[in-house]
Amino acid sequence: MNKREFIKRIALAGLTAPSFARLQAQLRPVENVPPETLAKDNDFWSKIRSGYRLKPDYINLESGFYSIQPEETMEHFIEHVREVNYHGSYYMRNYRLDNKQRVTEALAEMADCSADELIITRNATESLDTIIAGVDWRPGDEAVHANQDYGAMRHMFELVEKRYGIVRKIIGVPPHPESDQEIVDAYAAAITPKTRLLMVCHIINITGHILPIRKICDMAHAKGVEVLVDGAHAFGQFEFSINDLDCDYYGTSLHKWLSAPLGAGFLYVKKKNIQKIWPMFASPKEKESIKRLNHTGTHPAHTDLAIANAIEYHNRIGGARKEARLRYIQNHWTDQARKMGHVELFTPRDRHRSCAIATAGIKGMKPADMATTLLEKYNIFTVAIDGSGVHGCRISPNVFTSIEEVDALVSALKSMG
Ligand SMILES: Cc1ncc(COP(=O)(O)O)c(C=O)c1O
Repeated sequence: MNKREFIKRIALAGLTAPSFARLQAQLRPVENVPPETLAKDNDFWSKIRSGYRLKPDYINLESGFYSIQPEETMEHFIEHVREVNYHGSYYMRNYRLDNKQRVTEALAEMADCSADELIITRNATESLDTIIAGVDWRPGDEAVHANQDYGAMRHMFELVEKRYGIVRKIIGVPPHPESDQEIVDAYAAAITPKTRLLMVCHIINITGHILPIRKICDMAHAKGVEVLVDGAHAFGQFEFSINDLDCDYYGTSLHKWLSAPLGAGFLYVKKKNIQKIWPMFASPKEKESIKRLNHTGTHPAHTDLAIANAIEYHNRIGGARKEARLRYIQNHWTDQARKMGHVELFTPRDRHRSCAIATAGIKGMKPADMATTLLEKYNIFTVAIDGSGVHGCRISPNVFTSIEEVDALVSALKSMG
């Protein structure tokens, strides 16, 4: 193969004009339908569903851990695995970095930030822990976060506390706020002149509660505090712009709501902060480049390539349409569940404070028993949440979830009273 042919093959396998022919055909008739109208069009979404290979054994309402890839994205991914393996070190030495840069640019465009402020990581844990561990902590410095935050990040703050003598200030996010201000005030109350960093979830994974990030950032910045946003569940689930959020750092996973292959995430660092973070792994890269935070060693380069395909799939459906459909499905079941006296909802009632994810418990029933009953008696796969004031099962549907499936959940909840 000569060099031109090689580049063409890599491009075809990688980054330009992925076909998604099947999806395109499904989308053509609904091109001009507004997202809120399309959200209710179950025939359309059943066509999207047909693009997934779904196990018939159970209803999958656990997309929050890992959102499986549609078949068309996965075919591209498998092709990348083949191509990278076929070209071996030649690919790694000659094309890996350029291709990774192009994927970085596509991600930055979707996230609405500069490509110089974003790096591809393996997951949200790597992204967020790079910042928590990388701040130049001094003894007595304070960090603010919430008791509803994800375990891995809470543990990293504990480690940093042991190592550098920092003080953790842990707040409780009001579960059913009357206003954004109530949440902003809860964070503000924990800030002192010693606070260096505030970490906040864009969406709380155990309840699906979406927090007013811009308002929290404005409040924190006015007090001289930097903000790290845990967006593990936000990117690809609902629309937002990192520039509009005005946070200092943002970490997310891409194998959750973007439906990229397992082991993909990104970290955003506002330009002015890039130089002051200690890298997790030492890098020879120039001090002012964000790449200095990205020397992870050799890793699956084919996964990086498939992120571009996942973005392509997402953009073809359209972020606004996906968000509207996910919120529609959630509201469809929670509106009914909220009326059941024996069911408790741990997700705010205000529709704009949640999207796909919501959590419900059966009063008097242990969450683990509830999850087992849902699976064994009703063939519904969920995850039990039992802590931080939340006692129930998290329900996280996806674009492939049918109304019949959430109706089955509603019936199950009804009969568990
Ligand atoms: C809120 C939150 N943050 C961070 C993570 C970590 O994501 P990952 O395991 O992909 O690194 C998760 C995972 O579920 C999460 O829910």
